[in-house]
Amino acid sequence: MLSAFSRIDLVGGSTALEPMRRIGQAVGHPQLWVKRDDCMPLAFGGNKVRSLEFWLGEAQERGCDMLVVAGGLASNQCRLAAAAAAKVGLDALVLYAGDVAVPLRGNALLTQRLGAQIRRLGPVSEEERGRLARKAMLDLAAAGRRPYLIGDPIRGALGYVRAASELAEQAEAIDLDLRHVVLPGSMGPTEAGMIYGAATLGLPWNFHLPSVEYEAEGLRRRLEEIVAGLARLVGREPPSGWLDRVSIDVRQLGEGYGIPTTASLRAAGLFAECEALIIEQTYVAKAFSGLLGYVEDGSIPRDEAACIVHTGGTPSLFEQG
Ligand SMILES: Cc1ncc(COP(=O)(O)O)c(C=O)c1O
Repeated sequence: MLSAFSRIDLVGGSTALEPMRRIGQAVGHPQLWVKRDDCMPLAFGGNKVRSLEFWLGEAQERGCDMLVVAGGLASNQCRLAAAAAAKVGLDALVLYAGDVAVPLRGNALLTQRLGAQIRRLGPVSEEERGRLARKAMLDLAAAGRRPYLIGDPIRGALGYVRAASELAEQAEAIDLDLRHVVLPGSMGPTEAGMIYGAATLGLPWNFHLPSVEYEAEGLRRRLEEIVAGLARLVGREPPSGWLDRVSIDVRQLGEGYGIPTTASLRAAGLFAECEALIIEQTYVAKAFSGLLGYVEDGSIPRDEAACIVHTGGTPSLFEQG
C-alpha cells in the first residue's frame, strides 16, 4: 500500500515488541505489551523518526538540500529532524520559539550538538512560528537553496500506517491476538496513521487515546482530517466504522499539555521500577497512566491482549527533571 511513497530508512528494522510481565502481575493483566519506539538507533529515537522517513523521502524526491523545522525548545521533532539531516548529509535550520534567555537543554542541546543551525524566535505564538518558518523557506529559496519544510501531518502519518503492519506482523509471528492499542493523543499524525493502517488492514484493534493536549472534540477532528488526507494520498478509503474503534480519553489531561498529574508521576515511577521503562511526562507518562486506568475500569478486559506504544521523547527528561 505504501510502495508508491519514497522513504529513507531511519528506524533500522522493526522496533521491539516486549511483554510487560511484572506490571502485568502487579495489575492482574497477563497480556500487556509495549512497542519500543523509544529504542531506535537515531539520536534516542521516538515516534517522529517514522514520520521523518517519509518526509526525507519526499525531500529527496524534490531534490532538496536542506531541512527547515520549527518548534518549541522541548520539541522531539526538531531534535530528530536535526539528527536525520546529519545522518543523510543535509543542512538543517531549526527555528525555536520561546524565551531567548532560556539555556539550551535536553532536546535543544542535542539539536545544537547535531550541527543544526539554530534561530531563536522569542516567545511567539504557534501561528507566528509557522509564518516565520514559511518566510525562512522563501528567503532560503531566494538565496539559491532548496529547502524542505518538515511537518506535513498527512505525509508524516504514513510512518505509523507502516508501523501498524509492522506491529501486526510481529503479533502474528508470536500468535498474539492483539485487541487493544494505547497511544498518546496529541497533534494526531501518529495516532491517525496507526488507526488508518489498522482499519485498512482489517485488524480487530481498539484504540485508546489518552489525550495529552486537546479536548476530545479537537482531537477527534484532527484524526478525521488526517485519516481523510491519508485516504486521498494513499488512494484507499478506510472502512466506514473506523472511528467506532477509537476511544478518546481526556481524564489524563489534568491541567493541560506538559503539566504532569499525580497519576502520570505515579505511572512513571511504577513502569521504571517494574519494567525499567524510562518515560517522560508530556506524552508518554500520561499514556501509561491511561493504560493502568483502562485495565482497572475494564475497558481493557483481562483476557484481551493490549499493546502500548512507547513513543520516546526520552531527552525531555533532562529538561523536566
Ligand atoms: C514523544 C512523543 N510522543 C507522542 C507525540 C505525539 O505525536 P503526534 O504529534 O503524532 O500526535 C509526540 C509529538 O511530538 C512526541 O514527541
